[in-house]
Amino acid sequence: MKTWKTALIGFGTVGQGLAEILLAKQKELKAKEGFGLKVTAISDFKLGSVLRPAGIDLKKAIDLVKKGGSLNDYPGGTKGLDALQTIAKTDADIMVELAYTDIKTGEPATSHVKAALKKGMHVATTNKGPVALFLPELQALAKRKKVQFLFEGTVMSGTPTLSFVRRNLAGCTVSAVAGILNGTTNYMLTEMEKGMAYDDVLAKAQQLGYAEAVPDADVKGWDALAKVVILSNYVLGANVKPDDISCRGITKITPDMIKKAAAEGKRYKLIGRAELKNGKLKASVKPVALPLDDPLAGVGGATNAITFETDLMGPVTVVGAGAGRVETGFSVLADLLEIHRSCA
Ligand code: HSE
Repeated sequence: MKTWKTALIGFGTVGQGLAEILLAKQKELKAKEGFGLKVTAISDFKLGSVLRPAGIDLKKAIDLVKKGGSLNDYPGGTKGLDALQTIAKTDADIMVELAYTDIKTGEPATSHVKAALKKGMHVATTNKGPVALFLPELQALAKRKKVQFLFEGTVMSGTPTLSFVRRNLAGCTVSAVAGILNGTTNYMLTEMEKGMAYDDVLAKAQQLGYAEAVPDADVKGWDALAKVVILSNYVLGANVKPDDISCRGITKITPDMIKKAAAEGKRYKLIGRAELKNGKLKASVKPVALPLDDPLAGVGGATNAITFETDLMGPVTVVGAGAGRVETGFSVLADLLEIHRSCA
């Protein structure tokens, strides 16, 4: 049995989702995996912070913020530390990074990840920015410090994608990936096919909590682009940046185009694709009218899917949730268990 001291940087939707999972599953994780976790610090730029080496009661912390309170009101511990101060002061073994990220600069998430890795902490993050922009540098830093840097939740939330390649496709060579990597736009295209108007369906996706805070990131393809960069670099071993990849979203898809495709036995999907040919990467994000017998054409609603082209297994497709409080919270649990299994 090993108990991991953990610092949570960011305690919004995903952080609270993770905390709820940890509370619900702590007995099972102890019994089945010999895995224990003690949160010794939480820092959130909106919800305040508490650093308490003796451990923070997650139930109390969730109740506090759900009632509109601040973590600064948690009984005991040191208060008011920002993310970097928390990372500097904490004695945690693992930093879970769930703060926000500007996809153009990767900040402030990248600074959090770097500070924790430099300190010799394992890092699990769901933030695409640091991974899409600085993966080689962060991996090298983690290697030098002999710690793990994991980011399963950056692509398709907790649906096994990066770990699927790392673990289950180990030994196969993956030459291409193609997927529906954004739930909002897939939901929108599915509803538009049923006759709903673009603006109405976008508003509905926002209500349902699929869309990014700035929905341009979804409809213009930027969210899928960040995921294609991560897949290109992590799965195909390329070294590309978002600006190297052509990106077109769904803003110009009209009901007429959708009807015309349907009449031809096709369906529009926003496809993120990356292929390695003779050592050269060809990658794009764009709407594609897929024939209905393509496995990706049958994936509707906010669900995501990805097909890996492999040498030994041919095409392998994984289908599952691409977003959500519990689903993304689970991606972090999967990373924590990976750290536990390889280091305990
Ligand atoms: N807005 C994203 C989506 C969330 O719709 O898929 C997950 O990155």
